[in-house]
Amino acid sequence: MQFLFGAFLAISPIIKSFAVEIKERFVFPKKIKVLSLKVNQKDITLRVDTRSTLLDILRESLHLTGTKKGCDHGQCGACTVHINGKTALSCLTFATTLENKSITTIEGIAIDGALHPMQEAFISCDGFQCGYCTPGQIMSAIACVKENKANSIEEIKSFMSGNLCRCAAYNGIVQSIQKIVNQ
Ligand code: FES
Ligand code: FES
Repeated sequence: MQFLFGAFLAISPIIKSFAVEIKERFVFPKKIKVLSLKVNQKDITLRVDTRSTLLDILRESLHLTGTKKGCDHGQCGACTVHINGKTALSCLTFATTLENKSITTIEGIAIDGALHPMQEAFISCDGFQCGYCTPGQIMSAIACVKENKANSIEEIKSFMSGNLCRCAAYNGIVQSIQKIVNQ
């Protein structure tokens, strides 16, 4: 046993230098870009690592943690925001592509301090349970109505199909959207 431990200590510098060489060859060095954009109607300039996603800068640089990180792979919709008024998955959007663009997150949809009607509808129709998926669901639901894709239950389900809910609050979500359409 002691012999094995000694042998490991002897080869560990070799493994370490091999790992450093791999990193130098295959991992791109960190680059910083100065980015100007609008987030929830405010002009913002910040320095971003060119590898950062929009989701990362929202949560970690701007502390807008309403936008959720679910899968981080474009599969669940928890990170949905609006970019220039259209839905986008912030986990799949490189921050550096957003120069001069306008981002709206769940923190930016209240009107004069009052909840957005879609937020009200989610509350009154039980559109959420744990609430983890809810910010992304609401951002998609607003777009669903705005883009006139809420004319039937099937149409709503089709538009909202990229937003997963592990609590299965789907019926309440559909009813919330229908409530806004029928107002
Ligand atoms: S966190 Fe972006 S789609 Fe899941
Ligand atoms: S309400 Fe819990 S994940 Fe949707």
